[in-house]
Amino acid sequence: MAQAKLCPTEGSWKIDEVFQIDKELAFALPSPQENLPDKYAGWMCIAKNLPELIERDELRARVKEVPELSIDDLTEHKSQRLAHLALGYITMGYVWNKGDEDVRKILPRNIAVPYCKLSAKLGLRPILAYADCVLANWKKKDPNGPMIYENLDILFFFPGDGCDRGFFLVSLLVELAAASAIKKIPDLFNAMIKQDLVKCKDALRVIKSCQLDALEVFKQIHKHVDPTIFYNVLRTYLSGWKGSSLLPEGLLYEGVWDTPKQFSGGSAGQSSVFQCFDALLGIRHSDGSAAGFLQEMRTYMPPAHKAFLESLEKGPSIRKFVLSKGDRCLKDAYNECVGAMVSLRDYHLGIVDTYITKPAREKQKGKQDPEDSSNQSETENKGTGGTNIMTFLQAIRDSTKTFLLV
Ligand code: HEM
Repeated sequence: MAQAKLCPTEGSWKIDEVFQIDKELAFALPSPQENLPDKYAGWMCIAKNLPELIERDELRARVKEVPELSIDDLTEHKSQRLAHLALGYITMGYVWNKGDEDVRKILPRNIAVPYCKLSAKLGLRPILAYADCVLANWKKKDPNGPMIYENLDILFFFPGDGCDRGFFLVSLLVELAAASAIKKIPDLFNAMIKQDLVKCKDALRVIKSCQLDALEVFKQIHKHVDPTIFYNVLRTYLSGWKGSSLLPEGLLYEGVWDTPKQFSGGSAGQSSVFQCFDALLGIRHSDGSAAGFLQEMRTYMPPAHKAFLESLEKGPSIRKFVLSKGDRCLKDAYNECVGAMVSLRDYHLGIVDTYITKPAREKQKGKQDPEDSSNQSETENKGTGGTNIMTFLQAIRDSTKTFLLV
């Protein structure tokens, strides 16, 4: 790939080609593949029937029966992403099964070996990540119909009456709402290079309006995701094995590594959208643990998207440009984008309160045993990525605010 294309200051900067960013869908995988070659029918059959197999207590036995398959017949990117998604569902189901304390600390080699090989090939981690369950886990019901909630579905399900459909599809729609803003980024850089303030302001206004569209989409979560099911069921299946009290050492990937490995669970913190706007606007989070978490989440993104964020950070600073011009309207346009990030993060904090803090409190109220309640408060405070959530998310929201220009 030509070096010039990697730099936002080059007119030839093609974010779609170089960074695998689709014009309409941004970071989402366009038209994900839905079937694998017949050789992989065993994986697909388990992944497609996960809730029933868990319900009948048959999942773990079925997983052990699958032969250890080579990944050589997965030659295309889309088939690799589908296989990674299916193996991710199988792994989460195998480890957490019914969502009680009966967990598995060893992933059998027939799944672990191909899963880790595929992960290495794709540059992803061997755990179900946002790149799998949101970006590559969707289809249109009517192929000619629009990309709206009612015309979309997910490819695989966890137990929980379709709670995952709501969570994954609303996240996907947030990605799509942001896509028009991301498409505008090269224009913004070009305008900056040409010192064209009018075009700069226009580009910033388009970006702000897409951020606000994303905020509107965010609100759909209340219609499609039930807080009690999210908290008590889906969250378990998305949990990882980093900082986990049930798998304190992590998961042993049999036949791959001799010691257990710790990986964070699937979280929308692994979405590139928020981090892309931060990088573009020069918003840097200096709170140690929050900054560290966001950096770590990048390692769960597809490598091309991570490279895109790095390329934005290395490119010329929009923030410095705005500051240097002393133009009130330009500053307002920039501030409106930062303000939209604050609004998105504010709204997100409310979501976390509804979907984690409140149901956790309800559950705790129902508990009689004081020993259980100490466990519970640990769970209450942790997101699927393993963070102490409210403190962490407030710190990020507050540091975003400090980037408003006066
Ligand atoms: C039921 C809905 C949701 C809940 C309960 C929720 C919960 C959380 C939690 C607990 C974190 C902290 C990191 C972790 O430990 O995982 C987090 C981070 C994050 N979430 Fe969500 N989330 C929800 C929906 C979404 C959606 C739809 C998006 C957008 C696609 C999103 C974007 C983010 C981002 C970008 C972060 C990283 C922090 C930041 O940059 O502000 N979340 N979320």
